[in-house]
Amino acid sequence: MEIKVERTKTPKTKPVDQSKLGFGNYYTDHMFVMNYDEGQGWHDARIVPYADIALDPAAMVLHYGQEVFEGLKAYRCADGSVRLFRPDKNMARLNVSNERLCIPAIDEAFAVEAIKKLVEVDQDWIPTAPDTSLYIRPFIFATDAHVGVHPAHHYLFIIILSPVGAYYPEGLNPVKIYVENSYVRAVRGGMGFTKTGGNYACSLKAQDEAAKAGYTQVLWLDGVERKYVEEVGTMNVFFVFDGEIVTPALQGSILGGITRMSCVELLKSWGLNVSERRVSIEEIAKAYDEGKLLEAFGSGTAAVISPIGELKWGDKIMTINGGKIGALSQKLYDNLTGIQWGKIEGPEGWSVKAF
Ligand code: COI
Repeated sequence: MEIKVERTKTPKTKPVDQSKLGFGNYYTDHMFVMNYDEGQGWHDARIVPYADIALDPAAMVLHYGQEVFEGLKAYRCADGSVRLFRPDKNMARLNVSNERLCIPAIDEAFAVEAIKKLVEVDQDWIPTAPDTSLYIRPFIFATDAHVGVHPAHHYLFIIILSPVGAYYPEGLNPVKIYVENSYVRAVRGGMGFTKTGGNYACSLKAQDEAAKAGYTQVLWLDGVERKYVEEVGTMNVFFVFDGEIVTPALQGSILGGITRMSCVELLKSWGLNVSERRVSIEEIAKAYDEGKLLEAFGSGTAAVISPIGELKWGDKIMTINGGKIGALSQKLYDNLTGIQWGKIEGPEGWSVKAF
C-alpha cells in the first residue's frame, strides 16, 4: 500500500532546551493515519499534519475501551544515522494485543515501513542531547458510533511521535517501589499481556496512592494468590539474587516487554544464569534478609533500565544495594543503550536503520 504524504504548512516551534523534554510533553508536525472498514480492510495510509481528530460521541472506544497501543523509540546515532530498536517485535506484539481485543490484524512489515516513513518526515524532531530520543506511539481504536457491546467494524490506526528524555524524573537514579497489596492489575485469562489502555487505567489508583506515600510506582502481585510478583506499572521487573537473575514468567497476566526479552537475551549471552519463573514476594524478602538480593531493576521502552533502590512491602522496607545502581543494572543499561544509539554492535536485527 502506498503512503501518501501531506506536509504541514505551519511547522511548530521545537523545544529548545532538550535537557527539559521530560516524557510525552511535545508532539511533532505529522502523524500517520490509516482506516479500517469492514469489507474493505485497512486502507488510505497517509501521513498528514498533526491535528485533532473528530470522533462521534458514541465512538465505541470511548465507551468500551476497544484500544491497543505500542511504544518504541528512534535514536539519533553518532554516525548521523537514525535507528529503531527491534520494531518488528513491537508490531508483532501489537497484533497479539489486536487479537485479544478483537481488532483486525495489521500488516506488521507495512507498519514498520509506516513508522520509518513518519520518522523520516519528522527527522528534524529527533533530539540529539544525551539520553534523548523520539518516542513512537502507534495506537488503534474503535470508531463506530454505536453503544452496543460488540467488536467494532471501523477503526483508526494512528502513529504519533514525541521527542523525549527520561521517563522517570529520577533518570538512572534508583526508584522507590511499593508492593501493592490492595489492588490487582490483571489475572490470567484477562488482558494483562496486552498493551491496552484499560490495563493502565486500572493501575492509576494504586499509582496515585503510591505517589502520595512517596513512591515512584507499585510492584503488582498476582491477582489470585496475591503472592507472586508480576510487573511494575510501566516496566517489567528483574531481581538479581546471588547466583540467579529472575524475572517473572509470562503466564498471561504480564506484558511481554521487548526490553525484558532483550535483557534476558543479553544476560544469557554473557553466560549468566537467568530464569523466567514464578517468584514470590516472600522469596524476595527472604533473599533480602539473607543478604542474597543483590540488585533489582525495571525494564521498559520508556524506562529503559530503572534500578530499584527501595522496595516497600507492608511495613518492611528493603533497601537494595545501598539504594544505589548495581553493577549489573549499569552494565545492562550501558549495553542496551549502546546498541540503541549504534555505539555497540548488537545481535542481528536489533538496531534497524530507519531510513
Ligand atoms: C513504554 O515503555 O513504551 C510504555 O508504553 C510504558 C508507558 C509509557 C505506558
